[in-house]
Amino acid sequence: MNASSTIVRMRGSSPSFDVERIRRQFPILQTKVRGKRLVYLDSAATSQKPTQVLDAIRNYYTQENSNVHRGVHFLSELATQKYEAVREKVRRFINAATIHEIVFVRGTTEAINLVAQSFGRSQFTSGDEIVVSAMEHHSNIVPWQLLGDQVGTRLRVIPMTDEGELRMDEFVRLLNPKTRLVAITHVSNALGTINLIQEMVSEAHRRGIVVLVDGAQAVPHIRVDVQTLGADFYAFSGHKMFGPTGIGVLYGKQTFLESMPPYQAGGDMIKSVTFEKTIFNDLPYKFEAGTPNIEGAIGLGAAIDFMESLDWPVVEMHEQELLQYAQSKLVEIPNVKLVGTARLKSGVLSFTLDGVHPHDIGTILDQEGVAIRTGHHCAQPVMERFGIPATARASIALYNTFDDIDALVQGIHVVKKVFGV
Ligand code: ALA
Repeated sequence: MNASSTIVRMRGSSPSFDVERIRRQFPILQTKVRGKRLVYLDSAATSQKPTQVLDAIRNYYTQENSNVHRGVHFLSELATQKYEAVREKVRRFINAATIHEIVFVRGTTEAINLVAQSFGRSQFTSGDEIVVSAMEHHSNIVPWQLLGDQVGTRLRVIPMTDEGELRMDEFVRLLNPKTRLVAITHVSNALGTINLIQEMVSEAHRRGIVVLVDGAQAVPHIRVDVQTLGADFYAFSGHKMFGPTGIGVLYGKQTFLESMPPYQAGGDMIKSVTFEKTIFNDLPYKFEAGTPNIEGAIGLGAAIDFMESLDWPVVEMHEQELLQYAQSKLVEIPNVKLVGTARLKSGVLSFTLDGVHPHDIGTILDQEGVAIRTGHHCAQPVMERFGIPATARASIALYNTFDDIDALVQGIHVVKKVFGV
C-alpha cells in the first residue's frame, strides 16, 4: 500500500485513514464474538496480527524451518539468512547505528531484566540510585527491586500530576551524583501519557547518567528513532506491534553492550568452551543463548514490513482523532471519569464509572462484543496514585474505527442501565 492509497474522506472534513482497507488485512477483525461484531479495544495488551505476519510464519515452517547459526545445510543457511535479515530490518526500523546493537529477546520484560541483571548487577553498587517514574509497568519496577536486593541499589520515583504527566522539576531534582540509571516508560500503558524522552535523556546525559526506555507501548503508535531519542537502552515487544508473542528487542548502545557480561549461558553465545574457560561470542550473540525464537523473528520482520508500508503521519492522525473522539464522548457520560488526561497521549483510554467496579464494566462490555482490559494493568502504583483499585481501559490501534468507539460508548450505557447509575 502506498501513501496516496491510504488517504480517503472519513468522518469530518479532514483527510483520514482508509481503515477498512487496513482492517481487511486482519482476519480476526472479521470474526464475531458472542454473536456480535468483534470490537477489539485491547491492543495495549496485545495487538492483532495482519495476514502478512501469519503468512510469514506459515511460510517459515512450510519452506524454511531449520535451526540457525549451526548447520551447513541449505535450510539452516536459509533460516540463518532470514533470521539475520530481520535483525537488519529492526536496525533500520529504529535507526540503530549497527546490527550489533540489536538483541533478540522474549519481549520488553526480558529486555529490562537483561539490563538489570547484566549491566546493573555488574556495574552498580550499594547506595547507587535508579530513577523510575510513578507510571511504570511492574516490569520496569520489579527488576530494579530484585537488583536492589542483590547489590543494594535504591529506587527513586518521579511523581506525576493529577493529569498523569511526569513532574519534570521533580525529575531533575532527583538526579544526583548517586544516580546511575533512569529507567522510564516512553508511553504509559495505564494512562497513555507520552513522556518527553528526549528532554529526559539530555538532562540525564548532562550528568553522565545512563537511560533505559520501555518502548513497549510507543512502538505501535509512534515512529521511534533511537539515535534521535538518544536513550542508551530501548526495549520493545513484537506482539504489541502486530507481530507474534515471544519475540522482542533490546536495543543497546554498542559500548554498553560490549561492557556487559552475558545474561544467560548456553549454546550460540560462546566462541569456545573448555572445562577451564569459555570465550564468549561477539555482539549480539553473547546475549542470545540457546536456540532463539526464529519463527518469532520472522513474524516480527513481517510486522515491520507491514508497518513500513503505511503512511505514518496519516496513521498517527487517525489514532489521535480516534482518541480525541473517544475522550470527548466519554466525558459526556455522567459519572464516567477519565484517568490520565495528559496533553500528549497515545493509544489508551483509562476510565472509571462511579458505583461500578471496572471488572463489571469489562464483563458487560464483553457481552456486547467489546473487548477491553480491566484491572490495575500491571501498574499498581498508578492505581495507588489515583486512589482507585482499578480502571477500565480501552486501547486503540491503527485498525480501530469511530464505530468501535461508538460501540464502546453504547456498551457503557448498557452498563449504566444494568447497575442503575
Ligand atoms: N502490558 C500489557 C498491558 O498493558 C500486557 O495490558
